[in-house]
Amino acid sequence: MKIIALTGAGISAESGIPTFRGAGGLWEGHRVEDVASPDGWRRDREMVLRFYNERRRHIKNALPNRGHIALAELERTHQVHVITQNIDDLHERAGSTQVLHLHGEIFIARSERDQRIRVRQDGDIHMGDHATDGAQLRPHIVWFGEEVPMMEPAVALVQSADILLIIGTSMVVYPAASLMHYIRPGTPVVVIDPHIPELARGAHIHFIEEPAGSGVDTFIREFLSKY
Ligand code: OAD
Repeated sequence: MKIIALTGAGISAESGIPTFRGAGGLWEGHRVEDVASPDGWRRDREMVLRFYNERRRHIKNALPNRGHIALAELERTHQVHVITQNIDDLHERAGSTQVLHLHGEIFIARSERDQRIRVRQDGDIHMGDHATDGAQLRPHIVWFGEEVPMMEPAVALVQSADILLIIGTSMVVYPAASLMHYIRPGTPVVVIDPHIPELARGAHIHFIEEPAGSGVDTFIREFLSKY
């Protein structure tokens, strides 16, 4: 059985990484158009680099939580693919081997001119740090208004799912949010989130209203075991 897990910031919340929306979210203290758009980058590269340098340091010190680990352990008994909107590497560090990053990765930098030119980036990126083509390095993050090159393989994965498991995402950012519409008819959809919006409640969706840390175990115990 093939489980496709679509994850968002909520799965890393219990690792101390803030989500984006809502009280205390990252977008409360920063303007998206300043730090997550090509225009923001053109206006003030230093500020954008500072924002992501800070996030990289923070993520480096964070640890995977029970949600990431339970998902990785599921690989022992099931075929599991993770499609994550997160730029952290906590799924990989928990042991998941099939992880597709829809919105990029904080530990990769790329040329601002040619996004195919990439390097592993463990430390800060500074102005004057160049890619092999001589262009300034920028974080390998998909910003608003930019294409999402990993959408195509992500759609193919969702189309092949026997179960779609959605964890910790508000599902408001497109095209990621459209992914759930690519399931084959009749494919069960399970959502794990402590705050399930009323609008999302639908007859064909199974909700586990819990944080990811306990929710993935509940999914395995109460849903998967009966499936
Ligand atoms: P959001 O901040 O929009 O949503 C986080 C979701 O996680 C909400 O539904 C919360 O209820 C839920 N949540 C909070 N704590 C949780 C926990 N402990 N366990 C499980 N769920 C929890 O984050 P995303 O949906 O990931 O894009 O945001 C999508 C994209 O918007 C991000 O990838 C980012 C952002 O702008 C870019 O930066 C390109």
